[in-house]
Parts: sequence; structure tokens; C-alpha cells
Amino acid sequence: MSGTLDNFTIIIFGASSDLASRKLFPSIFQLARWGHMPESFRLIGVGRQELSHDEFRRSVRERLLEHSPEAAGDAARLDTFCRRLFYVRVDLHDQAGYEALREEIMRDEENGRTCRNLMFYLSISPSLAPDVVRNLGQVGLGGRELPCAGWRKIIAEKPYGHDLESALELNRVIDEVFEESQVYRIDHYLGKEPVQNIMVFRFSNGIFEPLWNRQYIAQVMITIAEDFGIRGRGGYYEEAGLLRDIIQNHGLQLLAAIAMEPPVDIDADAIRDEKAKVLRAVRRFTPDTVRESVVLGQYEGYLGEKGVAPDSKVETFAAVKFHVDNWRWSGVPFYMKAGKNLAKSVTEIVITFRCPPQNYYGALGAACSTPNQVVLGIQPDETVAIRFGAKRPGEQMITDPVFMKFDYRGTFQGEGLTPYHRLLLDAIEGNQMNFIRKDSVEHSWSIIDSLKDSIDGQAPELYPVHSWGPESSRIYG
Ligand code: BG6
Repeated sequence: MSGTLDNFTIIIFGASSDLASRKLFPSIFQLARWGHMPESFRLIGVGRQELSHDEFRRSVRERLLEHSPEAAGDAARLDTFCRRLFYVRVDLHDQAGYEALREEIMRDEENGRTCRNLMFYLSISPSLAPDVVRNLGQVGLGGRELPCAGWRKIIAEKPYGHDLESALELNRVIDEVFEESQVYRIDHYLGKEPVQNIMVFRFSNGIFEPLWNRQYIAQVMITIAEDFGIRGRGGYYEEAGLLRDIIQNHGLQLLAAIAMEPPVDIDADAIRDEKAKVLRAVRRFTPDTVRESVVLGQYEGYLGEKGVAPDSKVETFAAVKFHVDNWRWSGVPFYMKAGKNLAKSVTEIVITFRCPPQNYYGALGAACSTPNQVVLGIQPDETVAIRFGAKRPGEQMITDPVFMKFDYRGTFQGEGLTPYHRLLLDAIEGNQMNFIRKDSVEHSWSIIDSLKDSIDGQAPELYPVHSWGPESSRIYG
């Protein structure tokens, strides 16, 4: 256990959120169980509800029993963990609550433990975030003027803002209260093993990089499909929609990992420089280009979901053709397809290479029958597959597409880290590599804003539940 972690307190805003129940508490419990948290660590839950410390402990215990098999199977550690939990009720717009929070944090210092390291976690709606950060600054809990040697960090959950304007405002407020080196904008996709492997695949293997450009690659297709709907999050979805929920963050981060230049070094800023450059180069949309590059859909029955307006035009599906206007990618379409209630849950990236110059084995004049592909399976299959043509056994020279496949789980066994374990640990240890820097957030919003502005209130096409989206999106593969 690193010495810098002594006296570590994590403060969760939105302690009753679904994310806290399903991901944050189970991950923090597991990190404590693995010995990654100091014994003296404290977790302070912040919420609007009136709860005593004990009531909060009971509620977290119940949620852990429901969502964490490790907690359910380790009663002794669950007891120890729950003793480290505390609660403060804060009306997020009212400074008095933040003063109570500061007292709760400082209470421990008066008990002889000085200078706690503080990690604030914002698991709240993006519209509340600026107020929270401003208030933290006002009561002296910001990171810019540390009263003593401890560190302070802030983790902000996506969506980070609602559009470019709100993201700029949030970045501005955060800048006043924290240094950029203390800010961790989390996108849990960046904690997924196969996503982290994209860079390793590209930059630790000599054979792919020479081909990784417009001369050899015909197109890239990124799919993020889910076979379930909005799971009761009608209120959130009505504000967000799929473009903001999935494409602005997870989708564009995958695109950036595929399209980025090799970084000058494997450190957080070098990598984030390259990702920001790609996002800057993504062509913005106009009303003319949107018509031929975007199909939005809404699943049948969405209007009947709880919290959804009866005439809602919110999209639950998008198929988008992006272009990256730089030297490496000029002319190569990056297709992206994402949606709720689709035929199956699958996230994958398919890189399709250009055909060989002569088509010896296909019908005369036909395009090549088996273009080479690299398929990066993100979930549920965690795989890398290379597709090529092979001769079908027999008298005739017929080619069939075949795959060489690497399967993560089959090859590397053992207890892996979930995205939240990994990213929380990275944040605790001060590694910002897999967190989004403010320039990338701003570029991503400017792309999505240009798309949304160009669509101009056009209604999404309906699609049947468990289909592959609206009929007109089929042109996107
Ligand atoms: C979240 C979105 O960021 O990611 C959800 O808000 C989506 O709508 C989820 O379902 C997908 O993440 P994962 O890792 O469960 O596939």
C-alpha cells in the first residue's frame, strides 16, 4: 500500500445513484479487499436524503449484497468496510451542506489524522456539476490551494456537460477550483481490457502500422449495439438521447484510439495529445452532409417508457458516417452504429482493407470476394480476429473467408479488473492516461453539436425492438 494513500477519503456525490450501487461501491469494496485501500480509508456518501451514518451503512450493505458476489461471500470484510462509511446530507445548491461536508472530512483531522487525501466523485447529472464544484471551492475543498501536503482529485462521470457550451462552462468552473492534473473525466469504456488493447495491438506490433492508413484501409466500422432498452432511465434518456449517451463519449473514444497517430511516449499527455488531434480532425456536420451521413432511430415502444414524453423525438439509435480529415485518413469513412433494443449486444470494430490489385479468384470484374479485415471484439467476445481468403478444399479454386482468432479470456485466465476497478485505481494512483482531457471533451461536443444542429428537430425513424435499426440505416453495413 503506497504511503501517499494514508488518510484517504473518497467522497461520492450521488451516493444513492444506480451507478454507485452497481459499480462504485462494489469496485471500492473489491479494491479494499485486494488491499489497494489504506485501513484508515473513509468513504463519505453525499445525497439529498436525510440519513444517519448507520442508515447509510445499512443501505450500502444491502446494495453490496445485491450487486457484489465478493461482498456477499465475505461477511467479515463487509463489516469492516461498512465501518468506514459515513454520510452527509447536502442540498447541492446550498453552501451550508458543503460546510457540513467539510466538517465531516475535517473531523478526522481533529482526531489526530491530518491532511487527508481527498477524492471527490461526481455521480450526478451534468447540470448539477458546476454548482457542486463551485461550492467545493467556496468552502475550501478545492485543489488549487492545498492547506497541507495531502492531494485532492475530482472524478467526473460522463456525460460531461450536455453540449459544447455547458462543457466549456463546466471546464471553466473546474479550472477555477482544480488543476487539470487533478481532474479525471471518466469514460468507463477506456477501462475495458480490449479497448486498452487497441493501442497495444497497433503500437507493439510492427506488421499492422505500415498498413494502418488510407492507402490500405477501405473503411472502419464501429458497432455498439445493446439488446435492451433504456432500463427505466427515461428521465435521463429524454435529456441525453443516444448521441450524447454513447456516441459523444464511448463511440468517439473508440474512433480516436483507432485513428490516432503513434504517441511520442506512452504517458498520459502524449497519448491524450494524439487523441485530441484526431477529434479535432473529425469533419463537422452541416445540414447537407447530415442528410447523407446520419440516420437516427427510435425503438417502437420507447414512447411508452416511464419518464418519456408521449411525443418524444429522442433517438435511441444512430448510424453515422464520420470522416477524419487528416493526412492518414483522408477519404476513409468511419461508420458508427449504436443503439438500444437491437438484435443483439455486441461492441466491435471492423477494419476493412482494400482489395488486392488483381482479383484472381472471384468472378471476373467482381470486387474481391473476401476483403481482409481486422475485427476487434470488445464485448461480449473479447477477441482480435484477422479475416483472409483461403482455398476451399476440392477441385475448384474457390476462396472462402476464414479467421485467425485470438481470444482474451481463453489466453489470459485469472481474475481480471473491471473497468471501474481499473479506473478508480488509476485515479487513486494519479495516472490520467485513460481519462479524457478537457480539449478532447470539447472537440467531441463540437462534433455532436454540429450533428444535432444540422438535424434540426427531424424525427427519428421507428424501428422494431430486436431488429438492426431503421431500414434506411442498412446502407451503413
Ligand atoms: C453507459 C450508458 O455509459 O454505458 C448506457 O449510459 C450503456 O446507456 C452503458 O448501456 C454501456 O456500458 P457497458 O460497459 O455496460 O456495455
